[in-house]
Amino acid sequence: MAALVLIPIPILALALRHYNTRIRPVYRRVRARLGDINAKLQDNLSGIRVIQAFAREDLERQRFTAESEAYYHARVRGIRYWSVFFPAIRFLGAMGTVIVLGVGAMMVLEGELSLGTLVAFLAYITSFYEPINRLTEVDNIFQEAIAAGERIFELLDETSDVKDAPDAFDAPDIRGAMAFQHVYFRYGTGDKVLHDISFQMAPGEMVALVGPSGAGKTSIANLICRFYDPIQGQVTIDGYDLRQIKIASLRRQVGVVLQDSFLFNNTIAANLLYGRPDATRAELITAARAANAHDFIEQLPDGYDTEIGERGVKLSGGQKQRLALARAILADPRILILDEATSSVDAEAEYLIQQALERVLKGRTALVIAHRLSTIRHADKIIVLDRGRIVETGNHRDLLERGGLYRQLCQRQMEMAVL
Ligand SMILES: Nc1ncnc2c1ncn2[C@@H]1O[C@H](COP(=O)(O)OP(=O)(O)OP(=O)(O)O)[C@@H](O)[C@H]1O
Ligand SMILES: [Mg+2]
Repeated sequence: MAALVLIPIPILALALRHYNTRIRPVYRRVRARLGDINAKLQDNLSGIRVIQAFAREDLERQRFTAESEAYYHARVRGIRYWSVFFPAIRFLGAMGTVIVLGVGAMMVLEGELSLGTLVAFLAYITSFYEPINRLTEVDNIFQEAIAAGERIFELLDETSDVKDAPDAFDAPDIRGAMAFQHVYFRYGTGDKVLHDISFQMAPGEMVALVGPSGAGKTSIANLICRFYDPIQGQVTIDGYDLRQIKIASLRRQVGVVLQDSFLFNNTIAANLLYGRPDATRAELITAARAANAHDFIEQLPDGYDTEIGERGVKLSGGQKQRLALARAILADPRILILDEATSSVDAEAEYLIQQALERVLKGRTALVIAHRLSTIRHADKIIVLDRGRIVETGNHRDLLERGGLYRQLCQRQMEMAVL
């Protein structure tokens, strides 16, 4: 009779295997749809102003509903499979009981088995099949967890394209000489955005990058911070290829004010201290003064302890930019990269920052990117970039005399200024 009880087990095992192979892709889809919903939600929340400004709330609501429905349908599909499979397993278990009952009843009639033994045996069967039923329930949860786990590990296994070489070394004290040697670069598999870029920055020199929008200025800044590696040629610092140096030790000495500067949801002081947590209050204030930010900070209700909200929503564009600048100055890097660091401040503030920068930049290598050419007039060297190529190099006066792209850009800005 024990052997009879085991008859449904192989069928059960086969059914379970079949179920697992069918349900796995279904749960994968459920997870993917849930990811879509989260992505949509994140997009809608961070873009809420744009949605409101274009009065697209209804459209976004429809899209969100569509994402929710896709998730709902994927989920229901999983539930449908389960609601067919689970009763089938129960049915198989019940079949075991039926077989035992049938055969047992015959044996009792023929006197080979006492009625008491049969009843006891039926009770045992229940406690045999119950764990099996529970096991299939666990299997279902397990399948769902595997689908979720696959997505998590996919993310964890994602490696950065830019990695420390195994023999990379720490470069704690650099002098700040930068050079690009025949650098070519593209993002991913896109078109080349930099072609044969070569230039040098001596320690303490201020070099300006100018050129039309999309020329590749920010891309050059990205290469100096080693957010990306060039596809050909090399970027060197004090003569070392950036790939030879530990990334962390490089970035400790390179300060950047990015074009779209990011601030954290924290106090002003915490944001400024981000690059150098051990700086004193006095140093903090000196850096803020240099970035022309001290005065506006003092006027805030809690001064340096004012919470600035997510991404600094409680500040104006110009205020955010000055904070990002102060943060970079406080970190005291050997090389400072300013990408449009003064583009959203007024002419007055820009003038003040300009003067402060001259002090701050003394002894540091600086790469300044600016559309407003007045900012970079005093640079030691101006590099003019157009469509990923260096078209002119020289100081302000040389370039004006040459009458090329730089002169054109200057003239256009002067005309605009007169208007
Ligand atoms: N993350 C990216 N992925 C793919 N292509 C990019 C990326 N960032 C920039 N590009 C492309 O690289 C080119 C150069 O962009 P880059 O940001 O360097 O220009 P830019 O000179 O800084 O312009 P702007 O003055 O408008 O800031 C552009 O054609 C742009 O489309
Ligand atoms: Mg840019």
